[in-house]
Amino acid sequence: MASMDDAAEGRRRFLARLALAVSGLAALAAAVPLVAYFVRPARSAAAAWRDLGAVGDFAPGLTRKVVYPTPDPDPWEGTAVRNAAWVRRELDGSFTAFSIYCTHTGCPVRWVEEGGLFLCPCHGGVFDRDGDVSAGPPPRPLDRPVVRVRNGRVEIEVADVPTPG
Ligand code: FES
Repeated sequence: MASMDDAAEGRRRFLARLALAVSGLAALAAAVPLVAYFVRPARSAAAAWRDLGAVGDFAPGLTRKVVYPTPDPDPWEGTAVRNAAWVRRELDGSFTAFSIYCTHTGCPVRWVEEGGLFLCPCHGGVFDRDGDVSAGPPPRPLDRPVVRVRNGRVEIEVADVPTPG
């Protein structure tokens, strides 16, 4: 009789330890991305540049959309690690970049070459060719990421995606 009680007690202890181990592993699995999220700002502090292509890929006077990886993508971020901007090769050979995100609530703006305007589909925001607000609710001009030309390649400085508003 005592041996059956001992066996039941042993099973209970084993199951309790197993449940504790499984809970610990689950907590660890949840904690890794959380810790990485808080450590991330320190990693992103340094300026990083992304290649956008050869200077010749940009026609003088035209504005085109570019897509590039965000800084320090983590493996679990999937397709969210890509960012975009509008980049114009000015007639004098310099480059100007505009954030793709409207400064109202962050919808992606579209460049309309014929009108020379950036249009926001969400609430009718309109920006002129320099990114200044022409109409609608956006509170300020489009952000302008820094671009440079290095060894014949156009590069954009990447930072965390700006928070709208
Ligand atoms: S998000 Fe662009 S106008 Fe509202």
